Amino acid sequence: MCNFTLSKRTKNVNEMENRSLVTIADHSKEKILYMIEMAKQFEKHPNSKLLEGKVVATLFFEPSTRTRLSFETAANRLGARVIGFSDPKATSSSKGETLKDTIKMVSNYADIIVMRHYLEGAARYASEVTNIPIVNAGDGSNQHPSQTMLDLYSIYKTQGTLENLNIFLVGDLKYGRTVHSLLMAMRHFNPTFHFIAPDELKMPEEYKIYCREQGINYVEHTDFTEEIIADADILYMTRVQRERFTDLMEYERVKNVYILRNKMLDQTRPNLCILHPLPRVNEIAYDVDENPKAYYFQQAQNGVYAREAILCDVLGITLDQVKEILS
Ligand code: CP
Repeated sequence: MCNFTLSKRTKNVNEMENRSLVTIADHSKEKILYMIEMAKQFEKHPNSKLLEGKVVATLFFEPSTRTRLSFETAANRLGARVIGFSDPKATSSSKGETLKDTIKMVSNYADIIVMRHYLEGAARYASEVTNIPIVNAGDGSNQHPSQTMLDLYSIYKTQGTLENLNIFLVGDLKYGRTVHSLLMAMRHFNPTFHFIAPDELKMPEEYKIYCREQGINYVEHTDFTEEIIADADILYMTRVQRERFTDLMEYERVKNVYILRNKMLDQTRPNLCILHPLPRVNEIAYDVDENPKAYYFQQAQNGVYAREAILCDVLGITLDQVKEILS
């Protein structure tokens, strides 16, 4: 445990450029590897006083278990204090206060805002109306960059590399912000993607265009069978998100379209790692949990370390400073 006084080492956040994390697309390959290295440091030494005296605000306009609690755990482990809300109905937004006013108010109280919002682009907008860093904790169906950092950390830990992997994305590829963010981040690492989705939930055209522009190989499937997943390195399952459907009949038609069962894993690669951003509903049978290839609970735990790295990075604390303080 260290007694690092942040204000002696970094500029006041108001003097810094805005270091918000709005989309993972802003991160270069070098920055992603740097953040993985920082997460590794925090996995070895989760507790410090790196953020002592800082206040982290968690503003969740949509439900969350993992993202909010792991950000709050990360902040607590770094010695920061946490304010915020998980129920927007209990805030003045229910009286008609705008997002802009809410962000400007909270900026008077906190050094970082971690925000989840149901509107795509809300995090970008928030970052434009304040000088303090905004961390996008999910904006509608758009992006979930902190999830992507923990996904990348999990992939790196289990595969020993991010390069040249066969990554199978399964389920709701239309509304799934985690798969959209992961796809963008992996552009640096020569992946081959397999998109497995029913027609109603196919990967949106804009992301397929992105793949073609970036030279990312992808194959689309509608079947989810043992044969199709036989050469997967990463099997990334997703939930069909009821809350994103305007037509609930359509949700009923597709909600149980793919279920991963333990017997489907018999012929898969030994290095296969099964990820899921969670929560799960029916898409992974419970018998998979005991399979050594199931990694989704460890993946969620990795969220604390990845988010400690994010909180430090947006405040301008460098990897060298982290290493020095934690050593
Ligand atoms: N993975 C994820 O975003 O989970 P929560 O919705 O529980 O935060």
